[in-house]
Amino acid sequence: MYDVLAVREDFPVLKEVIYLDSAATTQTPVQVVAAMNEYFYKYAGNHGRGAHRLAREATNHYEDARENVARFLNVDPTKTIFTKNATESINMVAHGLEWISGDHIVTTIIEHHSNLLPWIRLRKLGVEVTIIEPDSNGIIVPEDVDNALTDHTRLVAFTHVSNVLGSITDVSRITKIAHRGGAKVLIDGSQSAGHMPLDVHSLKCDFFVTPGHKGLLGPQGTGVLYVMKPDLLEPTYLGGGTVHAVTTDGFELEPSPARFEAGTPNIPGVIGLGRAVEYVQEIGSMDIERHETALSRNAASRLEELPSVEVYGPAKRAAVVPFNVKGLNPHDVAIILDETKKICVRSGYHCAMPSIRFLGVEGAVRASFGLYSTQEEVDIFIESVSQITSLLA
Ligand code: ALA
Repeated sequence: MYDVLAVREDFPVLKEVIYLDSAATTQTPVQVVAAMNEYFYKYAGNHGRGAHRLAREATNHYEDARENVARFLNVDPTKTIFTKNATESINMVAHGLEWISGDHIVTTIIEHHSNLLPWIRLRKLGVEVTIIEPDSNGIIVPEDVDNALTDHTRLVAFTHVSNVLGSITDVSRITKIAHRGGAKVLIDGSQSAGHMPLDVHSLKCDFFVTPGHKGLLGPQGTGVLYVMKPDLLEPTYLGGGTVHAVTTDGFELEPSPARFEAGTPNIPGVIGLGRAVEYVQEIGSMDIERHETALSRNAASRLEELPSVEVYGPAKRAAVVPFNVKGLNPHDVAIILDETKKICVRSGYHCAMPSIRFLGVEGAVRASFGLYSTQEEVDIFIESVSQITSLLA
């Protein structure tokens, strides 16, 4: 039995607010903060850069975190690269693959800017980018991906869960289709990792990215890039930690993952992330998914019943519910919810302008749920939106 009240004990701020913005960033459990504090208080030192005890201990904890994250995703730790967020991970793929004029990329209009802009910029090199639209429910149709493939398609990049619509992509099917067409696959797991069971190895994708600070419950400033074949990717950044031999004439790179982690990394953040994925594992992604989607689907269907409210996205949604109150600016709705009931939701275009415009609007309010959200919070949220709509009557 999922014990949400016990979970909430690990997130003290939830006593103060109704937090419905977990798609932007989740709250961090006390266990994760404690793991980071332990680094600062007991063994702060640099990673891989010293023979003394603190440097050794910091290195060991950092590498233990890598093992934890790799185990969580079910991938090889040597292919698990720490970055500062999913955006950096995607940019590292865009910079790290070699592109020639005439190459072709397929992506979708429901992507976060992070999984759109790096590809659009490649047009400057003569790379063609096809941006496919979802069906009327916001779901990417695998056959549409198939139809978009050409002999020159090198990459298909798509989100697992839309951060605007909450629609869920059939990642497994699209990966098979793209591979059959000879293209590589990048999956943006920013809104799926930690929110639902995930086995990146079984997906057989070439690249998988996720931030640490969303469903994985780690701190901000952490991210992950999984690369199936690290040798295919040129490191974007070079510097300390990436090389094992340097002369004034050249250098030899370390193997993966060190070659991709230039400079002093976010050591406390990564250690926190390592503890965070253990925490998610202890609770169980399947139970988390069941809990969160029950709340989001309940919230969506009740919002739909309110006059003057328009809800977007499919009925079978992940933990994300975008909506508008007709006649009101989404930011005003968000401010009223905060001022009246301390309800924290996101408003605006959610770093995904093409996705929002696809809905025919310029912005939306977005309620998103976490493993710590409760039915009582949903009830208060619905009641509050209902009161806002009654002001319009
Ligand atoms: N990508 C985050 C969001 O969708 C920030 O809110």
